[in-house]
Amino acid sequence: MKALIATQKPFAAVAVEGIKKIFAEAGYEVAVLEKYETEAEFCEAVKDVDAVIVRSDKVTKAVVAAAKNLKIVVRAGAGYDNLDLEALKAAGVIAMNTPGQNANAVAELAIAMMIYISRGCFTPATGCEIMGKTLGIQAYGNVGKRVADKAKALGMKVIAFDPFVPAEAIQADGVAVAKDLDELYSKSDFLSLHIPAIPATIGSIGANLLSKMPKGACLVNTARQEVINEPELANILAERTDLKYITDVAPANIEEIKAIAGTRFFATPKKMGAQTAEANINAGLAAARQIVAFFEEGCTRFALNK
Ligand code: 3PG
Repeated sequence: MKALIATQKPFAAVAVEGIKKIFAEAGYEVAVLEKYETEAEFCEAVKDVDAVIVRSDKVTKAVVAAAKNLKIVVRAGAGYDNLDLEALKAAGVIAMNTPGQNANAVAELAIAMMIYISRGCFTPATGCEIMGKTLGIQAYGNVGKRVADKAKALGMKVIAFDPFVPAEAIQADGVAVAKDLDELYSKSDFLSLHIPAIPATIGSIGANLLSKMPKGACLVNTARQEVINEPELANILAERTDLKYITDVAPANIEEIKAIAGTRFFATPKKMGAQTAEANINAGLAAARQIVAFFEEGCTRFALNK
């Protein structure tokens, strides 16, 4: 059995060692492809492997076609918009993710970003505190719930909207429930996005919702670039000179938004929500264990395309 770790953005070395150890104990061979630049390099590396671990690496039709022995792909992380699930299914390859494993790292970044932008991106200007402010959480999954926990500990009021989570489960955490997105946005001084990039959400965050936010409000995006309607975001930041946007995924129109918003805007240079040693260890080792459990016991827990 041969497994490949294919990560354009490498895991921490300690996580790679941990993954290798799990595979070595199972008697599997391991190859590592890091910081690669082209799909062709990925295609070459998957040619003879049975299993692949990826992060946000794009598993395209071409990659699937090149991987003649492939039986399983595990996305070490939550979002799987980088996997062509149909192509994988058609080729008889099972796809999995590792939900929750990097959630704390992303949640910590969301909180850090709120504080950073509230302090004028660490310029000497007078900022504001987050204590006492209302944080809206759009999608109360593994990350949203952790952001809510941390925000409450910092003295924020928290309100959430998630049509897929029963209201009672959210309320049991001491979090208020918004009846719809209009209510969520109109009550949120900070709005933290935790939705996946799927057809229903792509381009869904635009002027209609953002214009409802209170004076001085801030949109926090540790989710996906694709969920934002970026031209509308630029317009509303120009119209509403009180609104702020902080994101872990640079917008396509970053220069325009920078020019419009100045220190009301910040984007990390590279997606870094899950970029901690702990998150890499949690998600990377979970991925390796899921691969071994799949081959040794037929375990398909966390399968995305059964
Ligand atoms: C995820 O979906 O798990 C996060 O966006 C992290 O992605 P990354 O592993 O590519 O940093």
